[in-house]
Amino acid sequence: MPLPMEDGALAGREVERARLAQVLDGLGHGRGAVVEIVGEPGSGKTQLACGLADEAARRGLPVLWARVLRSGDEPFGVFRDVAEASGLPEAPSPAGWCELVRRRAAGGVLVVDELHRADPASLEVVLRLISSSSSSSASTPFVLVLAHRPRQSQPALLQALDLGVRRDGMVRVQAGPLSATVAATLVDTWARSAHVPPGADSQDAATAPPHGLPDRTSASTAALHAAAQGLPGYLRLLVAAGFDPETWPDRAGEDEARLLREAAPLLGEFGELSGSARSALRAAAVLGGTFDPVEVARVAGLRTEAGLDACAELVRADVLRPTGRGQRLAFRHPVVGHVAHTACELSFLPAAHRRALRIATERGAPAAERARHAEHLVHTDGVAVARVLADGAAQTVTSSPAIAARWLRLALDARPARGRRSEERARWELAYGRALIASGRL
Ligand SMILES: Nc1ncnc2c1ncn2[C@@H]1O[C@H](COP(=O)(O)OP(=O)(O)OP(=O)(O)O)[C@@H](O)[C@H]1O
Ligand SMILES: [Mg+2]
Repeated sequence: MPLPMEDGALAGREVERARLAQVLDGLGHGRGAVVEIVGEPGSGKTQLACGLADEAARRGLPVLWARVLRSGDEPFGVFRDVAEASGLPEAPSPAGWCELVRRRAAGGVLVVDELHRADPASLEVVLRLISSSSSSSASTPFVLVLAHRPRQSQPALLQALDLGVRRDGMVRVQAGPLSATVAATLVDTWARSAHVPPGADSQDAATAPPHGLPDRTSASTAALHAAAQGLPGYLRLLVAAGFDPETWPDRAGEDEARLLREAAPLLGEFGELSGSARSALRAAAVLGGTFDPVEVARVAGLRTEAGLDACAELVRADVLRPTGRGQRLAFRHPVVGHVAHTACELSFLPAAHRRALRIATERGAPAAERARHAEHLVHTDGVAVARVLADGAAQTVTSSPAIAARWLRLALDARPARGRRSEERARWELAYGRALIASGRL
């Protein structure tokens, strides 16, 4: 059952909505405007633009959407749909397109979403629209809304927008993190609408996975808000996965199928990467935490140079970010790494984790880091990795007893008792019981 979050209701954002309403008031008085909506991936830029579009429609204003559906290189692709009704411009140049777009948008709102993915010719049109916005007093005014991820946007766009904000009174709206209170309300709303009334659809109700939000306490909602960094996109992914503060950031949650369903837009982003970047993405997901690009190349089975190029592409796409510690990289958010790991073909994981375990062992990595790889090898390398898991559990039991308990369970299952119980196995059983008690699961 998908989470019922497509209802478009906007939680919080009162200040931003008031600012956007002022822009529409201005249009009512004949004043056009350029509005930039910026923020992290999944911060709610599109949702804010939708809120503005709904309000404009409520006021009887025409609204046009220009979207980059996939990062195709078709010149002026962003504006093809906008042009549809009036036909292509006579002169297919940026100036010709700019004129056509202005005519089509006149008196209403034009939203350009995901501008960071626009083809160069469309970007040129947008730059012209921005620079002419302050001087186009002769043409009919309109509101141009530009939503984008600044980390992935071209420097020319960032410069033009900065100048517009500083010099020409352009409006910049930040889609920042939601407050803990707004996030809690949102999570509550999702939980309520995810509830299946008994008998509504008995088949569904019987087979539906738990909705991931059982009796959430304020402490666990606060942990969820912190884990998502207040960003609604990550909040949705974590809720879908069945977030558990006890195992975060090691895991997103147990419900991998729902995590993948909810992550469709993110998987779409992955799908636009080159083949070697996708290999590096899988390897980075296997390594987890922070990692060196050379290690990524080794786990991916790429030559070092190709691996470094692939990591550079992942950084440009803002899937990975530099950590500021040497060359080491990390996913832009841990849940992005979990989605990438969950999306890996099962046949890839054992060999990749075996390579990662070898690398971690060579580097003398802590037992907990090695155990993270060993847990993916119990079905193939059972006995050989059981001790790695038990050592990892011993190291992690104080900070994350739930994870320690899981590793000890796997170690015990991998080493069935034969004949007399070994001393080592008895120690693991005792440690397992203690970890269960410490994690409140016994
Ligand atoms: N204020 C809000 N209230 C309720 N839901 C929200 C709010 N903001 C965002 N969401 C939900 O969070 C998810 C991410 O939001 P949205 O797609 O608008 O982010 P975005 O900044 O446009 O992301 P991207 O950078 O990937 O384009 C969406 O499912 C959206 O419906
Ligand atoms: Mg968006």
